[in-house]
Amino acid sequence: MPNKTISVRIDGELVTAQEGQTILEAAHAHGKQIPTLCYLKGLSAVGACRVCMVELAGTDRLLPACTTPIQDGMSIKTASEKLTLYRRMAVELLLVERNHICSACVSNGHCELQSMAQSLGITHVRYSYNNPHLPVDMTHPRFVLDHNRCILCTRCVRVCAEVEGANVWEVASRGIYSRIVSDLKDDWGQARNCTGCGKCIQACPTGALAEKGFSVMEMVKQSDSVSRLAAQRTHQANGALERFGMCLQARPEQAPGAAVPRPFPRSQSSRMCSGLVGLHPPDRGLSRRHRRKLSGPLTSRPS
Ligand code: SF4
Ligand code: SF4
Ligand code: FES
Repeated sequence: MPNKTISVRIDGELVTAQEGQTILEAAHAHGKQIPTLCYLKGLSAVGACRVCMVELAGTDRLLPACTTPIQDGMSIKTASEKLTLYRRMAVELLLVERNHICSACVSNGHCELQSMAQSLGITHVRYSYNNPHLPVDMTHPRFVLDHNRCILCTRCVRVCAEVEGANVWEVASRGIYSRIVSDLKDDWGQARNCTGCGKCIQACPTGALAEKGFSVMEMVKQSDSVSRLAAQRTHQANGALERFGMCLQARPEQAPGAAVPRPFPRSQSSRMCSGLVGLHPPDRGLSRRHRRKLSGPLTSRPS
């Protein structure tokens, strides 16, 4: 059933939106740009960076556009002096939390954090730098994780779980001690679930995740390719769910103990019922973790 159409005001303009959309989605649908950092189209929204805050008429509280559902009659302001000040503060706090030395960074010139700082007119920060001593994980054969550049947006965590289905990344600890960790704090090179697909690299908005072999200013990310892939997988998964519905409908008609007829070959329908359909393109087959589950321990380390 199509979602109900509602009326809202965005920056004074009366527009329609669909019930269930977020403020950000509704604004995008009408060509309004709201700055974002942790949001990436195609992944779930978590509201981590607070850069997308907007004003809502009738309340002093600012709301994160990426996670707030739009409601009928809302009047939203996406740009104002108050919002610029707030967004500037949020970005400055990200810059001082770790060690962002752009002149020595692989993402210099192609970094979403840097671009955001530039667009907000940040020429200096008003807070003292934390200067933490953070490690760089070089153990993966092809990729590198530099905690010094990480803004804890969790895009890597979400793309790995929601698009690749490998669940390598997590956030460990709290507050200023929070860190992205792979496979229960193993070195990335030891993370057996990692398929080496590189989606986390492309999704990362900064120089925190990069490919080896790239020098200062050389790492250019393709985060829109992740969004396109996510949309494609959602489409495939929806199709598979419809077929899964057929599979479920067939069951009540079976005599007790009779074999369930399979509308697909065994391999495909078992993947479908384990929720993997749509998460892996046909040429990739099952993830390493599920291959291990089905065929016992791997004899060699994933490359
Ligand atoms: S990640 Fe971005 S902001 Fe941080 S040092 Fe690199 S270029 Fe600068
Ligand atoms: S490694 Fe990159 S994608 Fe992952 S949380 Fe840090 S900044 Fe975000
Ligand atoms: S983009 Fe909305 S909180 Fe980060």
